[in-house]
Amino acid sequence: MKKIMLVFGTRPEAIKMCPLVKELRNREGIAVSVCVTGQHRGLLDGVLDAFGVKPDYDFSLMREGQTLFDITVNILNRIKAVLVESSPDIVLVHGDTSTAFAAALACFYERIDVGHIEAGLRTYDIYSPYPEEFNRQAISLIAKYSFAPTEAARDNLLREGREPSHVFVTGNTAIDALATTVRSDYTHPLLEWVGDRRLVLLTAHRRENLGAPLRSMLRAIRRVSEEYDDIRVIYPVHPNPAVRGVANEIFGGCKGVRLTEPLDVLDFHNILARSFMVLTDSGGIQEEAPALGKPVLVMRDTTERPEGISAGTIKLVGTDEENIYSSFCRLLNDKEAYEAMARASNPYGDGHAAERIADILYDKVK
Ligand code: UD1
Ligand code: UDP
Repeated sequence: MKKIMLVFGTRPEAIKMCPLVKELRNREGIAVSVCVTGQHRGLLDGVLDAFGVKPDYDFSLMREGQTLFDITVNILNRIKAVLVESSPDIVLVHGDTSTAFAAALACFYERIDVGHIEAGLRTYDIYSPYPEEFNRQAISLIAKYSFAPTEAARDNLLREGREPSHVFVTGNTAIDALATTVRSDYTHPLLEWVGDRRLVLLTAHRRENLGAPLRSMLRAIRRVSEEYDDIRVIYPVHPNPAVRGVANEIFGGCKGVRLTEPLDVLDFHNILARSFMVLTDSGGIQEEAPALGKPVLVMRDTTERPEGISAGTIKLVGTDEENIYSSFCRLLNDKEAYEAMARASNPYGDGHAAERIADILYDKVK
């Protein structure tokens, strides 16, 4: 029996790891265990419930206002005993969070093999996104097997000297998740509020944007929403108090913008599928929106997901108020510019990434 443990702790990791948990649990000859750090709490639990995944271990680490030190140190302190007790043949981590980095580091200390899901994304600036770019580069040094979502991600890994026979292009499990969530008969009170106006979906949470950049991003959106009565902005606000305070301050009294609690993944995917366009600094949404043909203005200076830019669906607009304001207005006014971006294109695979990863693990893990 091969023993495979998956470790994750935040919303985006859960959305992309749950399809793999389910796939691995369907295979004979593999014993699967799930360890969640609880780096996120409410956000994580919503996803676990949506996919019906029950963790075997849960560290419940989240504290309000947690620092990168808190997360990393607390995971290292808790995970050693779990690794020793369950002695997995391989541990799978995802992407670039502090959970993924600390879990990979712990495996290295215990000399346990690591498989890295969504490997090879790069900006090559360790401060953007911060700390994610450092985390994913560090995980690549540790990982024995790298599961790259695209050819471009694989090329990055090969250029960095990773062993070619241990790097696999699988697609992104985000597309697997979309296939199970988006429904044609979906309704939601927020969609009724939007009515026949154009729906703009907004999210923002990146650490490097907290403070002045976040203020200028949101100010630009407020200005546009006050000038265009035919749009409605839905903004599920990340629970980070540093985000909530600014969101309430900038959008207070603004009738075209509805602030909500974070949406369950099923609601978010379906509302995304019905949106006119998206403004975000999120990583995962840059993968989902191209698959659904939704133009995305990415409020960051760099992206590790150039595939959406090549496909024409994504545009980097930075965090400057004027730049976001003018790019946003252009998409609302210029039908041709909008149509050029609104072409469905899916650089992230066919929705069978989890199957591919499971097949490879079945062959490789001894
Ligand atoms: C983390 C990841 C980031 C990922 C993001 C997805 C790191 C360093 N960052 O950033 O890569 O894009 O998750 O959302 O790993 N909070 C709650 N409830 C929750 C979740 C968060 O209240 O369910 C609040 C807490 O006050 C917490 C704060 O949000 O202190 C920030 O959470 P944290 O995990 O530290 O950072 P994120 O910005 O969410
Ligand atoms: N998402 C969600 N509800 C929300 C906002 C986002 O389910 O209210 C999903 C979204 O579809 C994507 C993931 O969360 O799959 C992205 O998470 P986030 O932006 O927090 O993190 P990132 O991808 O930037 O690491």
